[in-house]
Amino acid sequence: MTPTRCDRTPAWGALQAAYQTQGRAFDLRRAFDLDAGRFEAFSQGAPHVFADLSKNLIDAGTEQLLLELARQTGVEQHRDAMFAGEKINTTEQRAVMHWLLRTPPADPAMPAQSVHRHMAETLHEVHTTLDAMLAFAEAVRFDAAITDIVNIGIGGSDLGPQMAVLALDAFVLPGKRFHFVSNVDGHELAAVLKRLKPQSTLFLVASKTFTTIETMTNARSAKAWFEAQGGTDIARHFAALTTNVAAANKFGISTTFGFWDWVGGRYSVWSAIGLPLAIAIGASGFRDFLAGAHAMDRHFATVPLAQNLPVRLGLLDVWYRNFHGFTSRSIAPYHSALKRYPAYLQQLEMESNGKRVDAHGEALPYGTAPVLWGEPGTNGQHAYFQMLHQGTDVVPVEFVAVKQPAHDLPGHHDLLLANVLAQAQALMVGQADVGGHKNFPGNRPSTFLLLDELSPASLGALIALQEHRVFVSGSVWGLNSFDQWGVELGKVLAKDVQARLTSADVTGLDASTAGLLARLCA
Ligand code: F6P
Repeated sequence: MTPTRCDRTPAWGALQAAYQTQGRAFDLRRAFDLDAGRFEAFSQGAPHVFADLSKNLIDAGTEQLLLELARQTGVEQHRDAMFAGEKINTTEQRAVMHWLLRTPPADPAMPAQSVHRHMAETLHEVHTTLDAMLAFAEAVRFDAAITDIVNIGIGGSDLGPQMAVLALDAFVLPGKRFHFVSNVDGHELAAVLKRLKPQSTLFLVASKTFTTIETMTNARSAKAWFEAQGGTDIARHFAALTTNVAAANKFGISTTFGFWDWVGGRYSVWSAIGLPLAIAIGASGFRDFLAGAHAMDRHFATVPLAQNLPVRLGLLDVWYRNFHGFTSRSIAPYHSALKRYPAYLQQLEMESNGKRVDAHGEALPYGTAPVLWGEPGTNGQHAYFQMLHQGTDVVPVEFVAVKQPAHDLPGHHDLLLANVLAQAQALMVGQADVGGHKNFPGNRPSTFLLLDELSPASLGALIALQEHRVFVSGSVWGLNSFDQWGVELGKVLAKDVQARLTSADVTGLDASTAGLLARLCA
């Protein structure tokens, strides 16, 4: 099916008109005054997540038009094609099936949804690999001699497991320490190594391709350190998580856990790349994590668009980016364990939808991925919330709050919840002050995601929700959310520059690069 590009649909024109007539002057306070049912109409449950969308600059008519836009751009067909295993990553000729990694072994929905001839066999392979990986994770958990687990990986091979291990700290087995080394900057690895002993360390070399220069450099240095410190049993102290098992073997690692080319790097925490998390929270915790995500997959695949949370969020993103012209979204998790959640979402959104051409390579005349940024609350309040409340740009904020704390320190959690509610309230209601400096314009939009507890299942559902919402906006924008060609040029140039750092040869370089290189070589 060739979808219609969003700016060529009737719904797009209708949304432009709606923005001009009521959208740009939309007043949230007035909307609540006029509609006593606004909270109910713009809030909803989804697996493990309650979402309040009512403090967004949107009315029922606009939401209807956005849903129409989704229909006219073929979002449902595109979603169904993903769940059927079609090769929707067209520039790499790959299926997009990270959702299969969290599909139970005997999923009744499988035969109906699958046009992929080998889907059942692939699912079987997924579970065989998962079982092996979880058995390994359990063995490491019960191996008292291993105290330190070092994940060496970058991008999706770092952010997912790191974010999840930190987020689920309350579930992590005591007595094990987790370290994440991603940067090629040797300071990072050196700082970790100086706290380790080879006989009590397990290195996990995580790389889908097993060619990423940062990961390979760190892995080589870790192996050299291990051997220099008298370590001998590589099979016990190194494992590789990769689709390129041959390269891992060639590197000298025989313990490997594989996955497949239809798992994108930024969607890979559900695969063998999730091994650090499985060691941290155990096999049953990891299965809960997968189950939470699977529940969200079913929600996305089956619930009508108007009550489909990833669809509503993704369409709101399109409304803000293309009609209001907002260029960023601030991520505000009010839970300190979610400290890497904003960074994780940055890769998910910006590597997926930071594209300037459509799936056919044609330049797009409209904006795509917004900039995502943020910090856990309440820290952000004392840093950049000034700008969110009184700056010249409107930045939609996406709060995450958790009802039950995982600690029992009195007073803290109520104070945290009071702050997250108050910030969302203050952004919306503002404060009139003639003096100017104390005037808060208000009418600043926010979305509020609420979890009962931060558990493996709810985290799985939250992350799957975010994956699917990125799918929806990318699908409306008509781009391929599953490639990342934009990271390639820098990699190629870095190779050239690396050689020049040794030779000091600046021939053919632009004057700025040449000048800087000359200073570094002097
Ligand atoms: O350079 C970008 C990227 O390809 C990401 O998409 C990916 O998550 C990361 O590098 C790491 O890749 P790999 O897992 O192959 O080492």
